[in-house]
Amino acid sequence: MLKIGFVSAEIEPFVKTGGLADVSGALGKYLPRNRVEMRMVTPLYAQTRTGVHPFFPVDYMQDMRLTFGSRTIHYKVFTAKLPGSETDVYFVDCPELYHRASVYTGHEDEYLRFALLNRAAIEIFQHMHWAPDIIHCNDWQTALIPIYLKTLYNWDKLFAHTRTLLTLHNVGYHGNFPLTVVHEIGLGNFMHLLDDMDRRQGRFNFLKTGIIYADMLSTVSETYAREIQTPDYGFGLDAMLAYRKERLTGIVNGVDYGTWNPQTDPEICKNYGPDTLEMKEENKACLLNQIALPYHFHQPLMGMVTRLVEQKGIDLLLPVMDGFLYGHDVQLVVLGSGEERYERYFYGLQGRHPEKVRFYEGYNNSLAHQIEAGADIFLMPSRYEPCGLNQIYSLKYGTIPIVRQTGGLADTVIPYNWETGRGTGFLFKDYNSDGLWWALDHAVTTYGHREAWENIMRQAMEQDYSWKKQIKHYLRLYEKVSGQIETFSVQIH
Ligand code: ADP
Ligand code: GLC
Repeated sequence: MLKIGFVSAEIEPFVKTGGLADVSGALGKYLPRNRVEMRMVTPLYAQTRTGVHPFFPVDYMQDMRLTFGSRTIHYKVFTAKLPGSETDVYFVDCPELYHRASVYTGHEDEYLRFALLNRAAIEIFQHMHWAPDIIHCNDWQTALIPIYLKTLYNWDKLFAHTRTLLTLHNVGYHGNFPLTVVHEIGLGNFMHLLDDMDRRQGRFNFLKTGIIYADMLSTVSETYAREIQTPDYGFGLDAMLAYRKERLTGIVNGVDYGTWNPQTDPEICKNYGPDTLEMKEENKACLLNQIALPYHFHQPLMGMVTRLVEQKGIDLLLPVMDGFLYGHDVQLVVLGSGEERYERYFYGLQGRHPEKVRFYEGYNNSLAHQIEAGADIFLMPSRYEPCGLNQIYSLKYGTIPIVRQTGGLADTVIPYNWETGRGTGFLFKDYNSDGLWWALDHAVTTYGHREAWENIMRQAMEQDYSWKKQIKHYLRLYEKVSGQIETFSVQIH
């Protein structure tokens, strides 16, 4: 039995801002079915949905404290089962740090919020006398565990055989702070271990520190694993990632077909599958009715469900979408929230095309399912995309994705070939508006050929990105990390 301590800033269904939560929740659910004992650690935010499963205080961890510089932080630990599994999730309860208006903040003490998570995870394992074979860290918020284990906690024999794996879900977010925070988070005596260039520039980078000290690195698609070793995608970490490339691997995310399957989805108007494609049209009619757009038989509806941030390629839409909507009989529904400039853009687009465009600002899981079921085409023109989940859901719903050929989008969508009839979506290569226009035009024209389109839909719906399949790659990686990977110690004095 492999023992995995899994630490993440988001776990579905407790708290979610993006795909990290989906992936954490799914790994917690599916890995323990495969000879893995998993214990998960995450913060107890104000936003954590505590109603989803009974929550219990862990009686011997109600008076926990950690010293950060001159400050002592008190916290308590609660536990709950991850729904649909026997996995125990441990919640770090520290209202002064985690009860904020949003899960992530731009507040000055953001570094402390997540330094606490890293150290609390280690100390929770200590209190349980539980020696994980691997501590699986995710993104910058948990990237300090490797260096903490090699420094502050290297006295503890409990972790003598523990290895660390850091999964990079998004290299665009670093956790970059002034160098002064290093003293407060307990690494002041280990300045010499930190990245030289950052030190000289007076900065401290959580993610880079994790990349340097984790025993193994993974990311969420093979293409992204290669891309992040180049300056265009590495966000300044490319050289470090290339240096550690022997320890870097890419595993495409799975999706939970228990939740995302048009044949069983309770959120949609009519369930359908590859043999009942005509029902999809009913979902479209239903969705259009609900969002007060006119329904026209066999007129393509495009959908987007996304965080509205630069990563998602919204900038490409700006010079293209008005012209495309004026020139084509298509409609567009967008669900998303994020940067105000993008929200303003979509409100404007809706204002200029009231019969064709609907924009829903916010986060709405039910509407996300209805868009997957009701739209014909799913738009995801990302500037970069480590994996992406929505295009994988779209495949299952026969909602043909238009994506840029990058990261996980390139690894999961097969370009449609008009001559062979093979393919599951429309891809464009260069990050520019011409590419997007070409792909939109190509998709909408193909949509007009019913037989060809249904053929694409069926191929898309047949794709299998179930966790059942993808989990095997994680198991192999865990075995490799726990068995074969030599860890390295550091000179701490
Ligand atoms: P990222 O993690 O970069 O945001 P992913 O495609 O991996 O991108 O995952 C996004 C997840 O968040 C998906 O499960 C998607 O359905 C969900 N999501 C994103 N925005 C919204 C929204 N506005 N309403 C509902 N669900 C959303
Ligand atoms: C990140 C990435 C997304 C990926 C998700 C889960 O948020 O932006 O592409 O699917 O993490 O790994």
